[in-house]
Amino acid sequence: MERTFLMIKPDAIERGLIGEIVKRFERKGLQLTAAKLLQVSREQAERHYEEHAGKDFYEPLVEFVTSGPVFAMVWQGDRAIGLSRSLIGKTDALEAAPGTIRADFAVHTRLNLIHGSDSPESAEREIANFFTPEEMVNYTKSV
Ligand code: CMP
Repeated sequence: MERTFLMIKPDAIERGLIGEIVKRFERKGLQLTAAKLLQVSREQAERHYEEHAGKDFYEPLVEFVTSGPVFAMVWQGDRAIGLSRSLIGKTDALEAAPGTIRADFAVHTRLNLIHGSDSPESAEREIANFFTPEEMVNYTKSV
C-alpha cells in the first residue's frame, strides 16, 4: 500500500476542474485519505518545489502555485504513486498521452493542472508539508 500527494493547481481550480480530476482517481480505485482547499504560502511552495530551486522555471512556478487556492490531497492504494502519474500524464501537455489529465485539459508546461509525487520519498516529504497525521483517515478496508 502506497500513499501519494496530489495537488490540483490554481489553473485547474479557476477552470472548475476539481470534480473532473478527482473523479478520475476515484474511478481508478484509489482511496482518498485527506483533502483540503488552501492558499499555499511562499514558504510552503518553496519547500514543496525545493528540488527545482535555481532552475529557470522555479520563480514563475512558485508565483503560479501561490497565485490562488490549490486542492491538496493524499490518495492511497497499491502502487498509488505510479498509477496516479499515469492518470496525470507527462509534465509537458504536448507529450502527455491521450486520455491523461494533462493531455485532455492542459496546454502549458507550467500551468499543468495537477502535481503528483514521483517517489515514496517525495510523497512522504510532500504529505508532511501539507498535512498532519491527524488529518488523514484510516480505512478498515483497503483497496
Ligand atoms: P509538477 O509536477 O508540479 O512538478 C514541477 C513543476 O514545475 C511542473 O509540474 C510544472 O508545473 C513546472 N515545470 C516543470 N518543467 C517546466 C518547464 N520546463 N517550464 C515551466 N515549468 C515547468
